[in-house]
Amino acid sequence: MPQKTNRLALITGASAGLGAEFARQYAAKGWDVALTARRLDRLAKLARDIEEKYHVATIVISQDLARPDSVDDILATLKEAGRHVDGLVNNAGYGVSGTFFTTDWAEQEKFIRVLYSAPIELAHKLLPGMVERNFGRIINVASVAGYTPGTSGQTLYGSVKAGIIKFSESLHADAKAAGHDIHCTALCPGLTESEFHDVNGSREQMEAAPDWMWMEAKPVVAAGIDAVSKGQPVVVPGMVNKGITTLTKILPEPLGRAIMNERSRRMREASKD
Ligand SMILES: NC(=O)c1ccc[n+]([C@@H]2O[C@H](COP(=O)([O-])OP(=O)(O)OC[C@H]3O[C@@H](n4cnc5c(N)ncnc54)[C@H](OP(=O)(O)O)[C@@H]3O)[C@@H](O)[C@H]2O)c1
Repeated sequence: MPQKTNRLALITGASAGLGAEFARQYAAKGWDVALTARRLDRLAKLARDIEEKYHVATIVISQDLARPDSVDDILATLKEAGRHVDGLVNNAGYGVSGTFFTTDWAEQEKFIRVLYSAPIELAHKLLPGMVERNFGRIINVASVAGYTPGTSGQTLYGSVKAGIIKFSESLHADAKAAGHDIHCTALCPGLTESEFHDVNGSREQMEAAPDWMWMEAKPVVAAGIDAVSKGQPVVVPGMVNKGITTLTKILPEPLGRAIMNERSRRMREASKD
């Protein structure tokens, strides 16, 4: 049984994939966990499993982060429960299928809200408490796509993830400059086993990616938690993903763009076979 820390981690997108794994790994370290996503049944089941296995407290909050009031509502629930947040994992996310031309603005706006504004708003509203207690650990789940050149399809995804990486680096530097024990880390996974590609309808296309490009959620999450504990502003889990991000930094930009576009084109072609 883990030694209880009485710390609380708030994890968004905890009903599946990386978020559920973050919840298990923080609980295994003796942290209490507040789980939020839209699917209440999934959250409730995960909370029961975690309480049984790790004997930590759980709080379940069903919220759609696309709603402008969702962050305030999550924070109000935590306040009512008398809990403050020591760790924040901004993990909820998905990809918009279709192209930028064929998706209406309401869809794009929701996407920006869930993957960009809500994580930043949560960090902003939780930071004063973290500063007061001089402790905070924030993990923002970004992506290798925040480093690689933009390609056709998933048009906003890479730019939003790039923004999250820069935001995390700056926030980490801000906290360090002020002398607070607050760490912020951007976790940049590559292809990871989860429901992500089922939700955005790209499972068939992604099956064209070789097995060695895929990672399981467990080591990805472990890398994120380890990095934030050590105070690393960015972590790219896995040798393959590290190789990809290094290449994107050293290749001439037009060559990098051409390689990425060709790779996307081949994967689209392969999924039509
Ligand atoms: N899987 C990959 O290959 C990969 C690679 C790089 C980065 N990432 C990033 O990793 C993070 C986690 O994704 P995943 O792979 O674990 O995908 P996943 O298995 O599909 O899980 C996504 C989570 O986000 C939640 N979510 C989606 N829309 C939401 C909304 N409007 N409001 C609240 N919660 C919402 C989902 O819960 P509900 O549906 O219950 O709301 C679910 O818990 C994302 O930020 C993603 O961009 C994934």
